[in-house]
Amino acid sequence: MPGDSLSFSETVRARSSVRRFRPDPVPAALLRTILEEAQRAPSNCNTQPWQVHIVSGAARDRMAAALDAAWVAQRLSPDFFFDGPAYPGVYGVRRREQGMTYLQAMGVTREDHAGRDALSRQNLDFFGAPHAAFLFMPAIGDHVRVAADVGMYAQTLLLSLVAHGLGGVPQTMLGFFGDVVRAELGISEDFRLLFGISFGYPDHDAPEAGYRMERAPIEEAVTFHD
Ligand SMILES: Cc1cc2nc3c(=O)[nH]c(=O)nc-3n(C[C@H](O)[C@H](O)[C@H](O)COP(=O)(O)O)c2cc1C
Repeated sequence: MPGDSLSFSETVRARSSVRRFRPDPVPAALLRTILEEAQRAPSNCNTQPWQVHIVSGAARDRMAAALDAAWVAQRLSPDFFFDGPAYPGVYGVRRREQGMTYLQAMGVTREDHAGRDALSRQNLDFFGAPHAAFLFMPAIGDHVRVAADVGMYAQTLLLSLVAHGLGGVPQTMLGFFGDVVRAELGISEDFRLLFGISFGYPDHDAPEAGYRMERAPIEEAVTFHD
């Protein structure tokens, strides 16, 4: 099981998206250590443009209820457009493969609309995690540089979680509800919600824990020029 003794390579290879958590909260001191490690993430000109809002306990439950109500009413308010079907070529292929693997692991078919709806609602209930982090960013320029910095932060946070025996899942799904999250947490319109990360102790016995997404060989991603 992942823990403090993992090397960096082991940490990277042990990380995968966790979609079933034990209810135990993360001790405050450990959470602080993890956030301090995430804060070491690099950013353009060291601007550190991430603003992270973490819900736990009653605030977590209120947020889950608000998100579920918005989902039922189909009141979506994404700050950033997400056009999944527009992913071209190999990216579309990988996207469809991920969708199929995920549905299969969760025991849901593409045609099972009720099952897929239930999965969306599990997303919004943070897959049972005791904590969820909402990653906000200030609106600067065309957003691309700032979003890249927030991505750096997110992966550092995810790896720190694994190194300390925890796990998480980044969720664009949580980013579809910018207005709801801002209203619940009293956050100004000046900040845009990129995505969220549910985290906690993974439930290693859950059926969802049994699958891992493959990766393309590096030849498909890297070109060497000598
Ligand atoms: C920015 C971002 C957003 C994601 N959004 C979701 C999401 O809304 N729901 C979900 O279940 N998984 C989400 N994922 C997880 C991806 O499906 C997952 O990272 C990918 O399939 C690779 O699997 P792995 O993380 O287990 O290695 C997201 C990942 C990233 C990086």
